[in-house]
Amino acid sequence: MKPIVLALAALVAPAALAADQPAVDPARVEATVKAAFRSAPPDWQPRLIPDETLKECSATDNSPTAAQFEAIQKREAATIRYPDDGNFVGDWKKGERLAQSGYGLRFTDYPPRNPNGGNCFACHQMTRQEVSYGTIGPSLLGYGKARGTAPEALKTVYEKIYNPHATFACSLMPRFGTNKVLTVEQIKDLVALLMDPASPVNQ
Ligand code: HEC
Repeated sequence: MKPIVLALAALVAPAALAADQPAVDPARVEATVKAAFRSAPPDWQPRLIPDETLKECSATDNSPTAAQFEAIQKREAATIRYPDDGNFVGDWKKGERLAQSGYGLRFTDYPPRNPNGGNCFACHQMTRQEVSYGTIGPSLLGYGKARGTAPEALKTVYEKIYNPHATFACSLMPRFGTNKVLTVEQIKDLVALLMDPASPVNQ
């Protein structure tokens, strides 16, 4: 009988321990994270403090209530700035280089010697030529071919890259425009990469 009792005790013990643990103190977590990145450059420091959106997404394990979902998207959409000339499409060749480039925001990139890249291939398949890509995001092969080049379609992609949280509250994709990782011109080049019928994405 004894071994069975011991085995049961082993099953019960971890649950009891977990209940005894204090709740995670967010202020302590923030302070610890900040202390770990003491030498972070000034423009990087604010990234250590989660904003309202990231806090809500973390607290709900990326499953906010319907009301939170709507509120997050509304707040994030309000941060989107549009091109002055109303044109959403740049140069797909520049866009392809940006999508390939992971330059920027790393500690070794200070002081900046090159424009930031988008690192899109880290999460997306985009062209048939590039065989090294991540799969956190959906494949974007043929993205423009499937959507056409109507102004509304171009605007939607621009908004997605500028701030993915505006259309998917707890997206795992970075807010490239809102967080000033990429400029309006760079985002236009990426729109071209995805939407231009001549781009390798649509071949
Ligand atoms: C850290 C991973 C990550 C990076 C880097 C990333 N994305 Fe995403 N992307 C995602 C995820 C996850 C989704 C799906 C969720 C969503 O729609 O927000 C997505 C969705 C998208 C969509 C919408 C797809 C659809 O179904 O309509 C587009 C367009 C897109 N990404 C473009 C880009 C571009 C361009 C870049 C580079 C500037 C980029 N992504 C960088 C993760 C990423």
